[in-house]
Parts: sequence; structure tokens; C-alpha cells
Amino acid sequence: MSLTQKTWGGRFSGQTDNRVEAFTESISFDRRLYREDVAASQAHARMLAEVGLLSADEAKKIVAALDDIAGEIGRGEFAFDIQLEDIHTHIEQALIKRLGDVGRKLHTGRSRNDQVVTDVKLWVRNGIDEIDGKLRDVQRAFLEAAGRDRDLVLPGYTHMQRAQPVLAAHYFLAYVEKWQRDRDRLADGRKRVNVLPLGAAALAGTSLPIDRDSVRKQLGFDAVAGNSLDVSSDRDFLLEYVFDLTVIALHLSGWAEEWILWSTTEFNFLELPDAFCTGSSIMPHKKNPDVLELIRGKTARVAGALHQLLMLVKGLPLAYNRDLQEDKQALFDAHDTVAASLELAAGLVRDSRFRKDSIAARLEDGFLDATTLMEFLVLRGVPLRSAHEAVGKLVRLCEERRCRLKDLPGEVYDGVRPGLASEVYNVLGVANALAAFKSQGSTAPAEVEKQIRHWHGRLA
Ligand code: ARG
Repeated sequence: MSLTQKTWGGRFSGQTDNRVEAFTESISFDRRLYREDVAASQAHARMLAEVGLLSADEAKKIVAALDDIAGEIGRGEFAFDIQLEDIHTHIEQALIKRLGDVGRKLHTGRSRNDQVVTDVKLWVRNGIDEIDGKLRDVQRAFLEAAGRDRDLVLPGYTHMQRAQPVLAAHYFLAYVEKWQRDRDRLADGRKRVNVLPLGAAALAGTSLPIDRDSVRKQLGFDAVAGNSLDVSSDRDFLLEYVFDLTVIALHLSGWAEEWILWSTTEFNFLELPDAFCTGSSIMPHKKNPDVLELIRGKTARVAGALHQLLMLVKGLPLAYNRDLQEDKQALFDAHDTVAASLELAAGLVRDSRFRKDSIAARLEDGFLDATTLMEFLVLRGVPLRSAHEAVGKLVRLCEERRCRLKDLPGEVYDGVRPGLASEVYNVLGVANALAAFKSQGSTAPAEVEKQIRHWHGRLA
């Protein structure tokens, strides 16, 4: 390849070392930005014509040729070559090949430094919208599940120890809240993505009479970046996006862990769909929750990508530094991993079923009603600390006798507080304990119904 085909070849007389070309190329991964690169270049060309740096005819030719090039890339007919380094150079060279000197005008008033960050922002903006759509679908799947087993009661856990009863619907809605915060976080970050870098040129702006606001409008950005020196070094928006992806992955991972446990023989709470499990090559009875395990496992990749990006920008002086080329693989991988995990999570939630008999058979174990009993004593005027101690002693007694609180005889309760035996059996047992909840946002059936209605409205 002749040096003149390199967009910066003019100042060089010696060829680039092959190893340098292989080491510095980004075309093997940044080709994923071709649509964004073409869209930004078309907006730039139109603007150049508006301000008189191109004729209307030249801009028209450039826009059409860029469409043509995008079509070729999209159909897999475009030849890539690491000697042309990156997607920006490939597209510009292809344009020059088609249009000659007209093509040589496209790069007027811009630099690859503002070009690449513009492309990445356009890509992240789409990425955010795609992940938001998938989160919404996951929310719907969880909401459907909340509606499916309306009356099913599950043991609620803290420290993985049985704590208090919760409606299955309440359990699913807990995740709906988490997915909503994830969506809100993305929407907030999107504001910072949607500020136009293009026009900052290499670092200081340009002496040419460009109109950045025209490009802003064409590409749907909300504002124009205020400081040219800041722009090409800014990857904050990308760190935020991959952080947001990491939180989503962490939420998925916690849920996956829960369901892996729930599908064990020990728990026996859940029947996972065959389509989302695999078998063992040696143990014929096995049905393994591989998808859940990999959703959990791939979280490490996403968090790893975040760490990589944080380290990448550490200590970078203004303005553009070539280090920044390394931002893309981590971004793409984190995005792809979370997108796939969300899709599978929605499918799993839609097709899994609770083993209601198995859950019910052991629901009275583990003193899920103990806290309600304590609160019942509080309502009768017993100070909370005394009530706590009294119920603690009753639980110890149950453990000695290997029975439940509702199995203890009336004398025991009357011994705690005279007259208690006549009413206490109305609050003991899981069903009574659950019915006793009242507070806003609690698992009280009426509260849960309210929440289901709320989310149906929001996700309609
Ligand atoms: N391939 C580069 C990247 O992805 C494009 C920008 C290169 N700029 C430069 N001045 N060498 O970051």
C-alpha cells in the first residue's frame, strides 16, 4: 500500500512496519461503527455545503456514495485491510476511490479524534435504547409472573435464612423495581451521551466556518459540546454506560443465583424449562441450569470491561491519546453480553413454573410467623424488646419440642401474657402472618395488588 493512501502519509517517507500495522489497527473491531460513521459523515457533508465549503452537488455525491459504501459493508462485500487502520480511514478511502477530489474534501473541518467519539456516542445512544427495550421486556416478564401465581406464598430470606413470608408477586415486583432503576440510570446517562462532539476537530476547533448546530440537529443531539479540548478525551459517557450495564449484570446475577438454588433438589421450588437447561454427558438424570449459571458467570466479563475502561482513562492528559482506541472492544462485549443475558432472562421467567406443592409442604417450617407474633404482642402493649425476648424463648421451646409456634399449647401463651391463648392462634401460621401485613410497600396482599396495577399502567 502506498503511503499516500494512508490519510496521514504526506509527512512520511518510510513504510510502516508490518508489526506496527497489526498492533495499531482497530478495523478488526471498529468496523461495527460503520453505520454511525456514515451517518455522521453525511451530516458533516451536508453542513459543509450549507456553509459553502462544498457545493450542493458535491455534498449530494458524497451522501449518495456513502450510502453506497454502507450498503456494501452491510452486505459483507467490502474489503477491509489493516493497512487502512480503522473504519474512518476505510470509508474515506472508499469515498475517494469513487469520487476522486470530491471525496478528498469530506474531512474538511473535522478530525478522526472528534469523528471517533461522535461515532461511539451514536453507537452508545442506540445501545442504550436497545438495552432499555430489553429491560422493559424483562420487566413485563416479571410482571406476568407476578400475576400468574397471585396467591402463592414464598418464604422470604435474609442471610439465606427463612425470615418472613412474602407473596410470590411481591418477590417478582422487587425485581421490576430494580430493572426500573436500571432503566432510569440509562436514561440519565443518555443525556450526557447526547451532546455532539463533532466540530471540535483535532483538539482546538477549526478556523473554517463550520456550523456545528446544523450537524447537531441532523444527528439528533440535544446540545453541542462546549469545549473542543474536552471533547476528544471524553469517555465519561462510556464509563457510565458500562457501569450501568454492570449494575444490570449484577442484578441478573443475584436473581440467577437465587433460581439456581431454587431449582435444586434441596429447595425444589422451581421447574426450569427444558429449553433453557442442558444435560450431563455422564449422569443421565441431570438437568443443569446452565443458562442461569452463565448469566451469573458472564457478569464477571461485564464488570471486567468496566474495570478495563476505568484503567484505560486513568492518567490520560488532554486531549486525544491513542490509548482511547482500546475503548471499543470492552464496550461492545459488555453490551452484547448484557443484551443476550436480558433476552434469556425474559424467556426463563416466562417459561419457568413454581412447584407449588413442594413449597407449601415446607412453608410452615422456619418460624416465618415469629415476627408477626412479636408485633401482635406489641399491639397488645408489650414493649418491643420484651416481646422480642418472649418470642425468642418460645422459638427455643419449639426447637426443643420439634414443633411450630402454632403447635404450642394455650398454657404456654397464657404464661407469656394472661389471655393471650384466646386470640394468638389467629395470627400464627404463615397464612395469618401474611394477612397481618399493613405497611405501604409491604407484602400485604392489598399493597401488592396496588403495585401490580401500578406496573400494569406503567408498562402497558
Ligand atoms: N482508530 C482511532 C480510534 O479508534 C481513530 C482516531 C485516531 N486518531 C489519531 N489521531 N490517530 O481511536
